[in-house]
Amino acid sequence: MNREPLIRVDNVSFSYQVTQSTTIPVLQNVSLQVFPGEYLAVVGHNGSGKSTLSKHLNGILTPSAGDVLVRGMNTKDVSLRREIRQCVGMVFQHPDNQIVGTIVEDDVAFGLENIGVPHEEMKARVDHALEAVNMSAFRKRPPHHLSGGQKQRIAIACMIAMAPECLVLDEATSMIDSYGRRDIHAVIDRLHAQGMTIVTVTHHMSEVVKADRVIVMDKGRIEMQGSPRNIFKHHDRLKQLHLDIPEAGKLAIGVHERYPPFAPHLISIEEFIDEVNRVQFPRTEVSK
Ligand SMILES: Nc1ncnc2c1ncn2[C@@H]1O[C@H](COP(=O)(O)OP(=O)(O)O)[C@@H](O)[C@H]1O
Ligand SMILES: [Mg+2]
Repeated sequence: MNREPLIRVDNVSFSYQVTQSTTIPVLQNVSLQVFPGEYLAVVGHNGSGKSTLSKHLNGILTPSAGDVLVRGMNTKDVSLRREIRQCVGMVFQHPDNQIVGTIVEDDVAFGLENIGVPHEEMKARVDHALEAVNMSAFRKRPPHHLSGGQKQRIAIACMIAMAPECLVLDEATSMIDSYGRRDIHAVIDRLHAQGMTIVTVTHHMSEVVKADRVIVMDKGRIEMQGSPRNIFKHHDRLKQLHLDIPEAGKLAIGVHERYPPFAPHLISIEEFIDEVNRVQFPRTEVSK
């Protein structure tokens, strides 16, 4: 691949300093590149370091060793931090940490104000972002009175308004019900189709399956990376890592074990149906 990466994570190790004398090592020699326009999914068991890694992608955390470069800008350089955050936006799992305004629309406008977006444009961007997450009716409400899922919608709206080149979503829709999540992901897919780079940390298979590339984390290291199809082939290894595979994959393995011509490594229901139609199942006599 000849493209320049948007983000380079080079040999990064990171420890949390919990007291003056105690540190908790989390990331260990993590290297990874995120290319412009990519859709990257990050999966891993709880505590494997996904959130810690995500926070490195726009300098919320900086490496204890190694470097993170965003468009060549080192996240350790404090003078570049603003530009880095404009390039890589992040939505956390716990939206309370991101809410700053006293009413919803101020919250969504906050980042735009900070970067000096003119008033008229700001208004248009806030309107558009609130509409995208279906929260226009809540624009005058105090965010602290909203449910967890509604706060997550607002946190996503903040980033839609900012329109970063790359959006990092760290379990950003975990409190939204499955229908709502589907709508929000349709919005994110549209942003991706328009060229936005997406990095999503998720437990939801529907998101992992559509990624260009999947990163599997375990104990602060990258355990595997590859296309969803190549990753989900390793179902035994994934099981050891306490990770799931898509339902269609489980079904396909079950059928394959009973009837080997049926392909085992399928990742979607559509593929499963195609395989059912392709395979000539032996006819069995049905006794009357
Ligand atoms: N602020 C913190 N202070 C100390 N330890 C932390 C902090 N945040 C996370 N950790 C520890 O770092 C490890 C990785 O956490 P995290 O990056 O949140 O993993 P994940 O997002 O995959 O669940 C865990 O052992 C967790 O307890
Ligand atoms: Mg996490």
